Amino acid sequence: MTEKAEKLIIRLQEVTRIYKVGVEHIHALDGINLELGENEYVAVMGASGSGKSTLMNVLGCLDRATSGCYELDGQDTTKMSDATLARIRNERIGFVFQSFELLGQLSALKNVEMPLIYSQNGWWSRHMRAKNVLERVGLGDRIKHKPNQLSGGEKQRVAIARALVCNPSILLADEPTGNLDSKTSEGILDLFDQLYREGQTIIIVTHEEHVALHARRTIHMRDGRIYSDLPRDQDPAYNTTMQEDAREEPE
Ligand SMILES: Nc1ncnc2c1ncn2[C@@H]1O[C@H](COP(=O)(O)OP(=O)(O)O)[C@@H](O)[C@H]1O
Ligand SMILES: [Mg+2]
Repeated sequence: MTEKAEKLIIRLQEVTRIYKVGVEHIHALDGINLELGENEYVAVMGASGSGKSTLMNVLGCLDRATSGCYELDGQDTTKMSDATLARIRNERIGFVFQSFELLGQLSALKNVEMPLIYSQNGWWSRHMRAKNVLERVGLGDRIKHKPNQLSGGEKQRVAIARALVCNPSILLADEPTGNLDSKTSEGILDLFDQLYREGQTIIIVTHEEHVALHARRTIHMRDGRIYSDLPRDQDPAYNTTMQEDAREEPE
C-alpha cells in the first residue's frame, strides 16, 4: 500500500486458486499477498497465463479462492454465502471488460441503469443516476443510442458508466483498451486518470507498458505469483520513459 492510502480496501493473504483439469492441478494463483488502499491506481501486468484474470475474478468476487483469506472493506469474503457475495459484488465492485459486454437491445441509458435494478431506488432516481454518470464519462449526448450505434470507445465509456453507477469501492478493468485503436485507448486512459483524480480506486490489468504507466503502482505476475510490486516512480519502465521524454524536451 502506498503512503497516500489511509483506508485499506483489499487484503489478500496467501490466496491460491487451483483449477482441477482431469488429474492435473493448475495453480492459477499460488500464494498471493496484497494490500490495497483507498484511491490507489494499480496496474497488474504479466504474460498470458500468469494469473491476471484469475486474480481479477477473485478480487471481484466472481470466483472464490481455493485457500487463503480475502478481506474487502474489512470484511472476510471467504466465509460469506454465495448470496452475500453476489450482493457485495453488485454494491462494491465495478467491472470493465475488453469486450464491453453491453446488452445490444438496450440503450446506453438502460445498460447503465441495469445494476441499479437491485437497489431500492425508484425509476426516476435510477434514471437520473444513470444519466449523470453517462455525463461524467462524456456521453451526455448519446444516452438513447444502442451499442451498435456507438463507436468502440463510446461503448467502453458506457461500460465504464455502468461499472460506476453503484459507486463501487473498486473499479476492476481487465484489458479495457484491448479492443480499441491507440487514439481511442488514450481517451479511455485519460478517463481513468480523471476518475482516479476524483478519488476512485482502480485496478487495471494490461500486458501493455504504455497502459500500465498511467497507474501509480505496478504489480508484475508470473506463474500465479506476484514477483514485483512497485510505486510508479520506482518502476524501471517509467523511469526510462521519463528520461526519453526529458531528452525530447526542446532546449
Ligand atoms: N477455468 C479454467 N480452468 C482451468 N484452467 C484455467 C481456467 N482459467 C484459467 N486457467 C489457467 O490458469 C492460468 C492463469 O490463467 P489466467 O488467469 O486467465 O491468466 P492471464 O489472465 O494472465 O492470461 C493459466 O494457466 C490458465 O490456463
Ligand atoms: Mg486474462
